[in-house]
Amino acid sequence: MPTSARRWVLASRPEGKPVRDNFRLEEIDLPDPGENEILIRTEYHSVDPGMRSRLSGDSYAAALPLGATIDSAMVGVVEKSNNEKFAPGNLVTGGFGWVSHALSNGRGVQKLDPSLFHGPLRPTAAIGALGIPGLTSYFGLLDLGKPKEGQTVLISSAAGPVGATAGQIAKMKGCRVVGIAGSERKCDYVRGLGFDGAFDYHDANLAEAIKTHCPDGVDIYFDNVGAGMLDAALLNMKEHGRIVVSGQVAEYNAAQPIGIRHVTRFITHRLRMEGLVVFDYFKQFPTAQAKMARWIHEGALQYTEDISEGLEGSADAFIGLFEGENLGRRLVKVS
Ligand SMILES: NC(=O)c1ccc[n+]([C@@H]2O[C@H](COP(=O)([O-])OP(=O)(O)OC[C@H]3O[C@@H](n4cnc5c(N)ncnc54)[C@H](OP(=O)(O)O)[C@@H]3O)[C@@H](O)[C@H]2O)c1
Repeated sequence: MPTSARRWVLASRPEGKPVRDNFRLEEIDLPDPGENEILIRTEYHSVDPGMRSRLSGDSYAAALPLGATIDSAMVGVVEKSNNEKFAPGNLVTGGFGWVSHALSNGRGVQKLDPSLFHGPLRPTAAIGALGIPGLTSYFGLLDLGKPKEGQTVLISSAAGPVGATAGQIAKMKGCRVVGIAGSERKCDYVRGLGFDGAFDYHDANLAEAIKTHCPDGVDIYFDNVGAGMLDAALLNMKEHGRIVVSGQVAEYNAAQPIGIRHVTRFITHRLRMEGLVVFDYFKQFPTAQAKMARWIHEGALQYTEDISEGLEGSADAFIGLFEGENLGRRLVKVS
């Protein structure tokens, strides 16, 4: 059993794009689990673009204090248990962050059901397609977007886990789906998932490129990016169109908000724009997860993971999200 653990902490608050020096890898002592506690060894942890706002304190969630462990989801194995609900060897998920091991009293820790997680539904999907990214796509698209057969859905950061899942669900609803992504490789990937069209936004006149791919206009814009992409989408929205604000990755590192300019379109085109905090749907998570698990087992929903090796690379894996490095859900394999 380990007597020490490694963890990444916030060393300084990023200004602009995060850099390696904003993070510090530390070794800490790990006591034996106390009464009711379990010791978990991390197998994988996620890195999430939404974490960026918490690093500088600009989020709906509290700012991460300096010196605190960087938050994320993890899949791990129970190594030792003094808690009757868990046994050594259990595969679990929890929110312990960028750590090699965690001690827990079991609150917020969920055992993975082996009858669900087998075949194409790998344990890592619990923190991806069935985790916060997949649930964001599910509730954002279905509850806020309200897609109807024949409608056109435009999705930014389409090759990320949120965008790729939202696009596939929109296809299941009979929509025409167009993705925007940062490379031809990513565009090929989303076309392979069934998207009807995709284009690389680099060097594109965004408003014109959207018009070319959505000649009849956009009914639902599922926005993961914000800034200029949101403005360009606004110019292409159909009357009574809906904009789902899932993420604003192009705003996260901006010193000043970039914002939108074409606000008049909301009046002329009777548009609605609504933001989403996926945790608001917490009570509905099990139902959505059961449905998405079935889709994955039936082959109707696919997901891709982008896995880097070793806890020492966690900060770089996170920073790379803002360079467009990841295709699919970015995870770090810790052990
Ligand atoms: N509202 C909620 O409750 C909730 C919950 C979870 C996640 N989210 C949000 O959902 C969004 C998608 O999350 P995800 O996990 O699927 O991550 P993701 O889309 O894979 O995010 C990383 C990708 O964002 C794109 N990107 C990075 N910087 C960019 C920039 N300046 N301009 C345009 N694109 C940029 C890059 O793809 P390209 O190569 O295509 O540029 C990069 O690979 C995020 O904004 C996240 O914060 C929201």
